[in-house]
Amino acid sequence: METILIVDDEKHYRLVLSEVLQEEGYASFTAASGMEALDLLNSQVIDLVLTDVKMPGMTGIDLLEKIKEITPELPVIIMTAYGSVEKAVEAMHKGAYTFILKPFENETLIAHIAKSISMYRIVQENARLRDALQTRYHFGNIIGKSKPMQKLYEIIRKVAPTNASVLIEGESGTGKELVARSIHYNSPRKENPLVAVNCAAFAESLLESELFGHEKGAFTGAAAMKKGRFELADKGTLFLDEIGELPMPLQVKLLRVLQEKTIERVGGTSPIPVDFRLIAATNKVLEDEIAKNNFREDLYYRLNVVKAVIPPLRERQEDIPLLMNHFIQKFTRESGSVSQVNGISRDAAQILCDHPWHGNVRELENVIERCVILASHEFITPVDLPPQIRKTPGSTLDLEGIPEGVGLAETLAAVEKRMIQRAMHISGNVQTKAAHILGIGKSGLNQKLKKYNLDKELSGPRS
Ligand SMILES: Nc1ncnc2c1ncn2[C@@H]1O[C@H](COP(=O)(O)OP(=O)(O)OP(=O)(O)O)[C@@H](O)[C@H]1O
Ligand SMILES: [Mg+2]
Repeated sequence: METILIVDDEKHYRLVLSEVLQEEGYASFTAASGMEALDLLNSQVIDLVLTDVKMPGMTGIDLLEKIKEITPELPVIIMTAYGSVEKAVEAMHKGAYTFILKPFENETLIAHIAKSISMYRIVQENARLRDALQTRYHFGNIIGKSKPMQKLYEIIRKVAPTNASVLIEGESGTGKELVARSIHYNSPRKENPLVAVNCAAFAESLLESELFGHEKGAFTGAAAMKKGRFELADKGTLFLDEIGELPMPLQVKLLRVLQEKTIERVGGTSPIPVDFRLIAATNKVLEDEIAKNNFREDLYYRLNVVKAVIPPLRERQEDIPLLMNHFIQKFTRESGSVSQVNGISRDAAQILCDHPWHGNVRELENVIERCVILASHEFITPVDLPPQIRKTPGSTLDLEGIPEGVGLAETLAAVEKRMIQRAMHISGNVQTKAAHILGIGKSGLNQKLKKYNLDKELSGPRS
């Protein structure tokens, strides 16, 4: 139950207001002065302050200023008489959530309170997530508190200081490169280069010369000697991305490099010693590739000294709110004053948590970046989300439009009626078609048409 502190020097007002709030299910405290209010704020848990402006001694505005010093996020609603709107404006400048002009209807007050408290909850939730980010739910830049992520941190912590080869497995966008970087920058090799090669990005012959380098004149166009990535990664780490795409002949050559710790440049004759730590990543399951004769088993065992598996985002939903918040902070920081965004509404967060994220963290990151740039208010709301994310049924229903106090049954019935009208319209009043669109049986539709008196309203074919 939320607790509201009512501050007013008029006893009558205090009594009436606390009665109204109690009827609405709120608990309340009352204070006859600003000083009394501050005492209560020190000793009780208060969720919202409702204060009069004109009071002897400390005014409501003074009280607001004091509250903003102690608990800046706590919502304060200012009650002010007609004719003193400039006071209300001053209060808004000083951080009041909103103001209400006396005398007011009870419903107006309750609507203001409900809205302020729900805003406060969002602010609190965002602050909680920020705290969580600052404490244990990350490993460097890697965010996540789910069991598999905790396990991953443990693996990184243990394997980073060693020279062991690591195989990172995960769908596209799960953070394989991030993990590879994290291993390198937590290893004794961190002062030396981290060299990345995407095995899928080159044709076979080009990839060979990228990896091994070539001697001058090794082939047409080889005008000068060029060191390959094995050599460039000297005393550092070599990250072979998409290793599942490495052509068979190069798999054999890589195996030899790993065994002998030497390479020969293309067109060269003498072996050159190399010293790199290998991290490989794949979005394929290499065991399956071995079964299909696409990947050498002996190389697999060389690579897979330690395996780090990053599960897809849809299998670790509890990481989504943390990631969301991390990206909101990241992109608002980057966009400077361009963005007004400071958090995300509960509805929007829920939609993001329910989304299957086939593009994993990268897709979530892109969605948040877009929202931060395009949203024109403090919180990202469902309408700010891209249409393909919002398509979950119901997520775009604007609950704001439904008046306070309207019951669930009534609201659902209204929605049902409109859906039926639309289906009948689309199907040209053909009931079998309309029933199909709605995903219900024909007799079910018939009953509902009667229930909403739509059977009389409609004309045209009925079959
Ligand atoms: N756990 C995480 N915490 C924070 N950011 C993450 C996390 N996982 C991924 N990212 C971010 O998501 C984006 C994609 O990550 P990354 O490039 O490492 O994925 P990947 O698995 O290598 O993808 P691909 O297979 O497509 O190459 C990056 O911007 C990365 O910083
Ligand atoms: Mg990658």
